[in-house]
Amino acid sequence: MEQIDKTRLPRHIAIIMDGNGRWAEEKGQDRLYGHFHGVASVRNIVEGCAELGIEYLTLYAFSTENWDRPQQEVDGLMTLLVDTIRKEVNDLNKNNIRLHVIGDMNMLPKLAFTELQEALEMTKLNTGLNLLMALSYSSRWELVNAVKNIGRDVKSGKIDPATINQDTLQQYLSTSNFPDPELMIRTGGEYRISNFLLYQLAYAELYFTNTRWPDFRKENLYEAIIDFQNRERRYGKTGRQIQEETQLA
Ligand code: IPE
Ligand code: IPE
Ligand code: MG
Repeated sequence: MEQIDKTRLPRHIAIIMDGNGRWAEEKGQDRLYGHFHGVASVRNIVEGCAELGIEYLTLYAFSTENWDRPQQEVDGLMTLLVDTIRKEVNDLNKNNIRLHVIGDMNMLPKLAFTELQEALEMTKLNTGLNLLMALSYSSRWELVNAVKNIGRDVKSGKIDPATINQDTLQQYLSTSNFPDPELMIRTGGEYRISNFLLYQLAYAELYFTNTRWPDFRKENLYEAIIDFQNRERRYGKTGRQIQEETQLA
């Protein structure tokens, strides 16, 4: 933690929490055992981000495609979601953490939906870490939705198609109120994005680790941040331009 430069922290970290199922299977257990242990990692990483003063943390917890998993696993995950929110809301409030959800909440079972609504309401005045849970989320779902809504607003005359620019599109995404992630971490050893924040990750630094999500702890997060801080972010410019700009600043 001491090695982290606190003046150059990413404002927004996004994490694909992957590897729960394999973690459990490697221990001869049911996949749900892995999801259950993944909750401890969520708690630890949320705490770690809050301590560091990270402003936004997005956790990919359940994708649109995950609805196609065996019913027993989906049901188990939804039950775990409801239980976890119930247990954690007080701690979120104690730590000044505000919960947000991105994704198609209408797809969620009624109980999960109402439980989440309540948690959103109960934490809405908190001003510390913004915790964005990506639930029933996929980037293509989000982009299709955005296009639909832009079409609707063009048709009603609310926007002129000639004025549509990148800011317009950004305003129609579920992350309209949040800056783009600077650092995206994927645990579990896969090197892919799996339909996560495709638009928002345009210039994010990507960090992949073999560590399974249930084993991921603050120390692993610190390693990812240090790795991030050692990279040169060029945004299409040359290294020399970037070095000159940082010398001027
Ligand atoms: C990530 O772990 C959690 C969810 C997708 C809900 P997985 O369940 O995908 O675990 P692996 O990738 O099969 O090990
Ligand atoms: C991505 O993990 C979704 C979440 C972590 C919630 P998956 O395990 O569903 O992704 P794929 O299937 O390996 O691409
Ligand atoms: Mg997986």
